[in-house]
Amino acid sequence: MNITLYGSTGQLGRVLLMHCLSAGHQTTTLLRRPFPDDDAHHGIKTVYGSGLDEKAVAQSLPENTDAVLFAVGMNRSSENHLCSTMTETILKTMPASARFVFCSCWSALFPGEKPSFLLRCARQYCRQTTPLLLQDKDAQLALLAHHPEVNWCGIRPMRLVSGPSQEYSRGGFGFSPFFRTTYDDCAQAMMNLLPAKGTSHEAPFIRSIKSTTH
Ligand SMILES: NC(=O)c1ccc[n+]([C@@H]2O[C@H](COP(=O)([O-])OP(=O)(O)OC[C@H]3O[C@@H](n4cnc5c(N)ncnc54)[C@H](OP(=O)(O)O)[C@@H]3O)[C@@H](O)[C@H]2O)c1
Repeated sequence: MNITLYGSTGQLGRVLLMHCLSAGHQTTTLLRRPFPDDDAHHGIKTVYGSGLDEKAVAQSLPENTDAVLFAVGMNRSSENHLCSTMTETILKTMPASARFVFCSCWSALFPGEKPSFLLRCARQYCRQTTPLLLQDKDAQLALLAHHPEVNWCGIRPMRLVSGPSQEYSRGGFGFSPFFRTTYDDCAQAMMNLLPAKGTSHEAPFIRSIKSTTH
């Protein structure tokens, strides 16, 4: 497949990039700076620029793009609305037949979705601690919900941790502060969503089966 991966220098994106390369996908990435270990990334097409630069995003989405993997994350120095703004630009620019596969987070909700009691508490906590991140992630889901014509799907992992690949499960709406997902499981879940005819228009909560209590 021809895949464009956003966030390839991040913790999740690095694992996704390895999956793409080992599966033989033609991979394009958008980078703000070169990979630190550039020699290890032969065969990847790189476009330099920010995901908030529409021209750079357009260059990173060739006409033959089959799928987009979106693993961009905000930190304290990020622009507000990073994920939702980038997603809007990508949806406008990518070929109509391409599939958009994204990683959101466990605290984000689609408009009208009913959270469990624990998830409501967790969202209240996020509103106090990382309000801009929560707003951005909610806005990304609201945007996608307004684009049923786009072939999109995603996942909402519980807190991401390093560690070996395990099995992952769909967590439903259940939520526990002890749930974890390894980066490997998260990347695998996204790779499993790549086939164009897979389930679309949903973003299940996922967690690693064996890492729920530490
Ligand atoms: N970490 C967790 O516990 C957790 C839990 C649930 C969900 N998630 C979600 O998982 C995803 C990935 O998380 P992560 O931990 O891998 O994040 P991360 O390590 O912070 O990586 C963030 C990635 O986004 C890129 N990025 C940031 N601003 C950008 C911009 N303006 N243009 C282009 N790229 C930009 C970064 O590129 P640079 O190298 O250029 O900065 C980096 O590649 C995020 O959507 C996050 O919300 C994370």
